[in-house]
Amino acid sequence: MAKVLPASRHPHEDTRVDNASFFLKRCYVVERRMMCTLSAWFVDTSQWDLKRQLSLDMRETSLHADALRSRVLELRYPRRDVDKKYDPEILAFMGEVAKASSSEEFVAGVYGLLLPELLQAYNAYLDRTDLLDDAPTVYALRHIVMDKQAQIYRMQALVNRVIPGALDTNTVEWRDYLRQYLASIGGFSGTDERKAKPENHACAGRPTYEVGRQVTRDSRWRPSLYHLPHENKYDVEGRKAWQRIEQLDKRIAMQVWSAISHFNEIWAAEVVAASMWDLQDQPWDFYLDLARWSSDETRHSTMGYRALEGWGWDAPDLIPWGNALYNAMGPMPPIQRLALLYYYEEGLLRSGTKQIEIKILESAQDDGSVQDMDFDWADEAIHVSYGFKWLKHLTGEDNAGQAELKRLTDEAREILAQFVRKHKDDPQAKLAPYFDRLYDVIAAEIHEIPDDGLNIQWAPVVADEEVLQQP
Ligand SMILES: [Fe+2]
Ligand SMILES: [Fe+2]
Repeated sequence: MAKVLPASRHPHEDTRVDNASFFLKRCYVVERRMMCTLSAWFVDTSQWDLKRQLSLDMRETSLHADALRSRVLELRYPRRDVDKKYDPEILAFMGEVAKASSSEEFVAGVYGLLLPELLQAYNAYLDRTDLLDDAPTVYALRHIVMDKQAQIYRMQALVNRVIPGALDTNTVEWRDYLRQYLASIGGFSGTDERKAKPENHACAGRPTYEVGRQVTRDSRWRPSLYHLPHENKYDVEGRKAWQRIEQLDKRIAMQVWSAISHFNEIWAAEVVAASMWDLQDQPWDFYLDLARWSSDETRHSTMGYRALEGWGWDAPDLIPWGNALYNAMGPMPPIQRLALLYYYEEGLLRSGTKQIEIKILESAQDDGSVQDMDFDWADEAIHVSYGFKWLKHLTGEDNAGQAELKRLTDEAREILAQFVRKHKDDPQAKLAPYFDRLYDVIAAEIHEIPDDGLNIQWAPVVADEEVLQQP
């Protein structure tokens, strides 16, 4: 017989480091796949309010994944393994979640089933783990739980407003399928009692999901290819209609330009989000950076929308919301889409366009638009560093990589120019009706301020420079 003291305390069973790292790695994979799935469905969702939330929740999800990943690495986990040997059951379940047949089903599956179940798993972990020994996990999980709870509340309120019934009667079958599937893998913890896989369920056996190569805009807006005259050199009437607005005052034109342009930056968010889905197996930081990049562009789009609403305008009636940029780039390889986006962003920064725009907006005494542009500029500087870093990673660090980047960009600009040529007679390529309506609304709201004498010289960054030479 050996002699011992009684145990000083009796912790919950299964709360050793191995148990913690098993659970947290499984949840890291859930969050990581969730991030990419939210990204992809953000692209494939047209309703503006839903789209916005999917994008912002995607960014939070990337931070949740990052916190869990960091914690797994602290738990004596072999560093090389955290991004290898992902749990195939979790990958299969997340693959099913992406197979929703509509945005309504997707939202129901994620916010009506996945997130509540995940919260339950996190809370159960918090209940059983040791608050002292495992304090760093407790800190991370408590914050993740708070974020997720807020995401669910926000989405519930939004659904009630824009797609009532989506979280209950309309999607019963889909949520039932996902619930049964999750039960078949022992829940998120993997340790619950396993039920049979719902192979004969009406929702089983759908084809693998792929992110869309084409987007559609919110049905409240009229379909439009472009949003401002610099995109399409063939739209002479549109350019003339815009010049009428400029003739009121170039300050007014900049106020309106920056709002419309910001609002339409959703294409940049979409390009980056689709690349997160398309480019699997990249280093973790790639996704963390792209999640920030994409959600920033959604924020910029929201800045524009807020400005338009601030003027009291009916945005769906007055403002074109183009789909050409994403749709022309949809068939390109993801690296080429990122290369073209980088071309725009780097060009804006290099030519000092943002600073000039801020000066003009200051001259207009439009404090809201100045602040938006100021923060936008800060974000854009980060995006250019992301573009530089990851395009170098994707194309190669040497001269051959630089040549390949230039080739991809030049080819992308040509593809865009071809798209513009192909659609030059399309009624959806004409912007004059928008700017004519807008002119009347603007003219009715004009007020006068002292002229500060600013010499306004400004040009946008464009894919096809010929458009700038047009009279
Ligand atoms: Fe932006
Ligand atoms: Fe950007």
